[in-house]
Amino acid sequence: MNIDYNETIPNNVDLGDDRRLLRALERWQPAYIEWWKEMGPVQSDMHKIYLRTAVSVDTDGWAHFDYVHMPEYRWGIFLNQPEKDRKIGFGAHKGEDVWTDIPGEYRSELRRLIVTQGDTEPASVEQQRQLGRTAPSLYDLRNLYQVNVEEGRHLWAMVYLLHAYFGRDGREEADEMLERHAGDPDRPRILKAFNEETADWLSFFMFTYFQDRDGKFQLAALAESGFDPLARTCRFMLTEEAHHMFVGETGIMRVLQRTCELMNQHNTDDVRPYGGININTIQKWINFHYSICLDLFGSERSTNAANYFSMGLKGRYRESKLDDDHKLDGEQVEIPRVTENGIGSETIAALTTMNLKLRQDYTKDSQRGLNRFNKMIDAHDIDATLSLPADTFNRSIGIYAGINATPEGKLISGEEWAASKHAWLPTDDDHKYVRSIMIPVTAPGKMASWIAPPKRGIHGQPIDYEYVLFH
Ligand SMILES: [Fe+2]
Ligand SMILES: [Fe+2]
Repeated sequence: MNIDYNETIPNNVDLGDDRRLLRALERWQPAYIEWWKEMGPVQSDMHKIYLRTAVSVDTDGWAHFDYVHMPEYRWGIFLNQPEKDRKIGFGAHKGEDVWTDIPGEYRSELRRLIVTQGDTEPASVEQQRQLGRTAPSLYDLRNLYQVNVEEGRHLWAMVYLLHAYFGRDGREEADEMLERHAGDPDRPRILKAFNEETADWLSFFMFTYFQDRDGKFQLAALAESGFDPLARTCRFMLTEEAHHMFVGETGIMRVLQRTCELMNQHNTDDVRPYGGININTIQKWINFHYSICLDLFGSERSTNAANYFSMGLKGRYRESKLDDDHKLDGEQVEIPRVTENGIGSETIAALTTMNLKLRQDYTKDSQRGLNRFNKMIDAHDIDATLSLPADTFNRSIGIYAGINATPEGKLISGEEWAASKHAWLPTDDDHKYVRSIMIPVTAPGKMASWIAPPKRGIHGQPIDYEYVLFH
């Protein structure tokens, strides 16, 4: 199914046939462009960037590459094609036809799910807005902008659902998406991790590795939804999310490669004098990003999450592949519990542990990249290992919120935490150093001191291709 680019808002949902909806979205569009100019990537409005634009949602060749002047990027509304005779796959309505319109009794829950997801999309653009000033190469600058325009499109995807299915309160929610801002003390973004500035490129790669992977898992759970327009929207968004995680994983890999090369070349663990980033600094960035991302999944025990599942609104990761009745009525599972003697366990209704289940799948998926990072270290004959910290480490939400633990998961006192946390989490000094090496590199094919070149360029182009034109 091709996307109609003749419309003011490119789409594959026959927007032209619904003049009222089209008018509502056309009213929102100028506010969006205003927001992009004010809160989007700094100093980018004059650049032409070699970007991928979706031209079809078919699996074969949905992407088109060309130079784009970013404010003119064709943000639009693309849903995967409907699956014929699709049935609800879980919860109380399992086996019934999927909903093509909002089920009235679940309206407010659905709106909340869509708003929470939607809010993260413009938030990440805001968080990353300063990074264009310090890109380590043209290749990386282009990738940053690609991620940014796609997050912008993800906002469009959620705003479409709000406008198309929720009437006036949907339109109000859509307006508020542009009024909350990352880090704004008065009107912050909804989730905490989406209010931190992404201040350097190591953080950007960690963000696209960890935060975008949270995005993948949330979208995958919503892609199971019985509300079919939401499921189809999220399925298409997942194809874009995969690219964001690619940017993160290959980015971290290239930083690490450079670190290992410098370590061997100078026979030292401390590569700062040579403009590199030490392995233990990389570990601290991992500790920080991973732990705040675990918080994004919410409390381990949650009646909201149980309701979303029973109502058929939000499933589990790869729901259809799971070997159970997909209803879980009366099922019990054991979850951890913090006691005076350490971490114990308790048995509770499985339905209330949906957040924990999704988080555990996220952890497995995150570990896969860590294994690849460690192979890279090994290949350089270096004796070091990067690891994900324990789920008890540095947590603000859920059962571990009130405790202190080492990255290995050992419970410690508040004093021990205060005395040791500088060894586990980025310090002011670490931030200062990492920022000090963020010097922009704009000559085609050249890389900053702290990162190795990518293995290959974008879409078959050479690494020294002029991915961004500054004129
Ligand atoms: Fe996104
Ligand atoms: Fe993303």
